[in-house]
Amino acid sequence: MKKNSLIAPSILSSNFSKLGQEVQLITKAGADMIHIDVMDGHFVPNITIGPDVIKSIRKYTKLKFDVHLMIENVDQYIPDFANAGADIITIHIEACEDIVKTIELIKSYNKLVGVAFNPSTPITGLENIIHLVDLVLIMTVNPGFGGQKFMRDQLVKITETRNLIDRKNKSTHLEVDGGIHEKNITDVVNSGASIIVAGSAIFKGDSKDYKSNIEKLRNQE
Ligand code: DX5
Ligand code: ZN
Repeated sequence: MKKNSLIAPSILSSNFSKLGQEVQLITKAGADMIHIDVMDGHFVPNITIGPDVIKSIRKYTKLKFDVHLMIENVDQYIPDFANAGADIITIHIEACEDIVKTIELIKSYNKLVGVAFNPSTPITGLENIIHLVDLVLIMTVNPGFGGQKFMRDQLVKITETRNLIDRKNKSTHLEVDGGIHEKNITDVVNSGASIIVAGSAIFKGDSKDYKSNIEKLRNQE
């Protein structure tokens, strides 16, 4: 990777039967933060993990927990995720009735705030809230499952988001999530991403491979 983007492994693709150990292993393998996908079976057609599980793995790493909420009734659950040890809480713009209110709620817990956009959601509207958020997440798959195909048509949206951030002179993180692997990471980084989420490309093979899987992503030109 030409620029110094951060790598955030998504534990959705890890072995859930030994999650604490997986978090420990991926930390040793060189992860920059831990991406945690929370799904409720309503906003997306899959159910994953909740605050109690996050709390139980908190002690296995010192890395930041980047919690990606793909849930409805977000406001109701923010306190639980904040208290479970999330460092960044990312909400979907499509799931919020009053996005500013939800952003303020997350901030009241002293957490960093991210706002996520589904592939079909335009980033119009971001301009009005960009000064309030620490991170923008552009989805390059329809959220719900790991291991899906990267949607190349989202690259232009990544570039547009990067241009907006730069135009506003902000240091807002630009995170990209879904279907990223060694063959497309360069395009994602060159389009302006600063945090790369990868699940299946990192948690593949044996746990001994995690380090080289991360390095392969970092070393793409
Ligand atoms: C999709 C999740 C992603 C996913 C990434 O809904 O938000 O974080 O786990 O996994 P890969 O890299 O396999 O697409
Ligand atoms: Zn995610």
